[in-house]
Amino acid sequence: MRISLVAANWKMNGNRAFAERFFTDLELGDVSADVVVCPPFPYLSQAAQAAEKKGSFKVGGQNLSHEPDGAFTGEVSARMLLDCDARYVIVGHSERRGLYGETSELVAKKFVAAQAANLIPILCVGETLQERDQGRTLEVVASQLQAVKAVIEEKAWECSVVAYEPVWAIGTGKTASPEEAQNVHKFIRTQMGDVGLTVRILYGGSVKSANASALFAQADIDGALVGGASLDAKEFAGVCRAAV
Ligand code: PGA
Repeated sequence: MRISLVAANWKMNGNRAFAERFFTDLELGDVSADVVVCPPFPYLSQAAQAAEKKGSFKVGGQNLSHEPDGAFTGEVSARMLLDCDARYVIVGHSERRGLYGETSELVAKKFVAAQAANLIPILCVGETLQERDQGRTLEVVASQLQAVKAVIEEKAWECSVVAYEPVWAIGTGKTASPEEAQNVHKFIRTQMGDVGLTVRILYGGSVKSANASALFAQADIDGALVGGASLDAKEFAGVCRAAV
């Protein structure tokens, strides 16, 4: 039995006042899913304080360094995230891969660094539109997973979350159909071996309260990584409520 998980990825949006309003407005009431909010680094502590007060969600980082410390200007380590009471961290988001040149090998190192500090990595995988049009979706996802598999024991998947985010669906208003997404999720699960059955696999890409239920009804979709719709506390809570 996998408990659903819904994660908010604010990306580089918001400010102190926005965060304050968001946490005041966030009513999760009887939501049964685990909920994670990933704000930009400067608001992590603010988010963690709200999380402690409300007790209904946890906090995550959007990225981390694969290095533990040292002369790496502008970077943030897993330990530092932990210091800010983060429990999760997104690794390998397509914006990091695409805009900042993060390779699957670097993403795999970040996955390992996160787990070494007892953070739960949310590993993002997914194909671009061109790769999809070439019929290469499963091949691309398999190779992104393979880079992590090459550096971990199979058991390590148990302390992780995977997010399938087709790049063409991120921030575009387009979503994979529930059936299309289900096929990829099932494939991802088989790629992780026996422990795959217990790993939560989230869908990401233009998820909102109006399309969440149909996605969550699929057997292998265990929740969502939500970008745009997570900037509105009521809309985000609607997605969380759809997760059973
Ligand atoms: P979106 O972003 O919900 O705005 O498509 C999802 C993500 O990038 O994690």
